[in-house]
Amino acid sequence: MDQLIEKAARNLIDSEYAIALSGAGMSTESGIPDFRGPSGVWTTNPEAERRAYRGYEKFVEDPKGWWEERLSSPSLLGDLEKAMPNPGHYALAELGQMGILKCVITQNVDGLHEKAGFNKVLEYHGSVLKLRCVSCASRFGRGEFDLEKLMRENKLPPHCPKCGGIIKSDSVAFGEPIPVDVAHRSLEEAWKCDLMLICGTSAVVYPFASLPRIAGERKTERESKTETGIYMVQEVPAVTIIEVNAGPTPLTTDSVSDYLIQGKTGEILPRIVEAVKRITSR
Ligand code: APR
Repeated sequence: MDQLIEKAARNLIDSEYAIALSGAGMSTESGIPDFRGPSGVWTTNPEAERRAYRGYEKFVEDPKGWWEERLSSPSLLGDLEKAMPNPGHYALAELGQMGILKCVITQNVDGLHEKAGFNKVLEYHGSVLKLRCVSCASRFGRGEFDLEKLMRENKLPPHCPKCGGIIKSDSVAFGEPIPVDVAHRSLEEAWKCDLMLICGTSAVVYPFASLPRIAGERKTERESKTETGIYMVQEVPAVTIIEVNAGPTPLTTDSVSDYLIQGKTGEILPRIVEAVKRITSR
């Protein structure tokens, strides 16, 4: 483990454009359950997952009913507004302050990367702390609409003040298209990076899980000189892909990632940051 942490630190130091991808495993140490881990929400409640797969269809058919159900039932992930970042979030934020980490693309809807002080976050599956117009994609803070009052006055769903479109939670449901702006910017990052640090995701949900595979397919040319002084140009992978996860994922078994550092993000990421500091202070 120590060797891999040292290796990840050196890879990060040598990178020119490192990005991180994160999933629910990043937030379990903040008390928010993941989905597919041993005590994940879907693992322990398969019926909730089946219902979640029907959620967007229900919204399209009956946005008023969707909102009434949503406002009357507690979030499966608990009260995310009270959740606090853990050492894993702060470690990524510190790599951002060092100028090493340029962007985090997260599947998490809890806003904890931003709460930890990292400001270039792409919320691939949106945020439960925000609302979004499904017509013009304008986003609003959850508090900008008095949803309970709209429900009491039988005026749901909320409508966009800009275009009159229907507003839903910004969090992206199964079957709902990824908001175009986030999808495009995430693809740009996958094409631009030379290091991808993948933290706490089972990497089974698409299209998010395609990002590491897109990066993994990229090649670049590297010049080298043979012992006899002859210059050669070799085609080599353009991106170093590192996983930090409690267990192997399809990215590990399909050799999309170069290596997996197995364990808790809240323990491993701070150790990587300490190693970066130790190496760069020499
Ligand atoms: N440190 C490292 N890894 C962890 C930790 C931790 N503290 N806790 C859990 N994990 C691992 C789990 O073992 C699992 O491999 O993180 C991964 C979390 O995977 P999922 O629960 O599938 O979460 P995620 O990959 O984010 O799911 C993707 O699925 O249900 C949808 O929209 C939801 O965004 C979510 C998407």
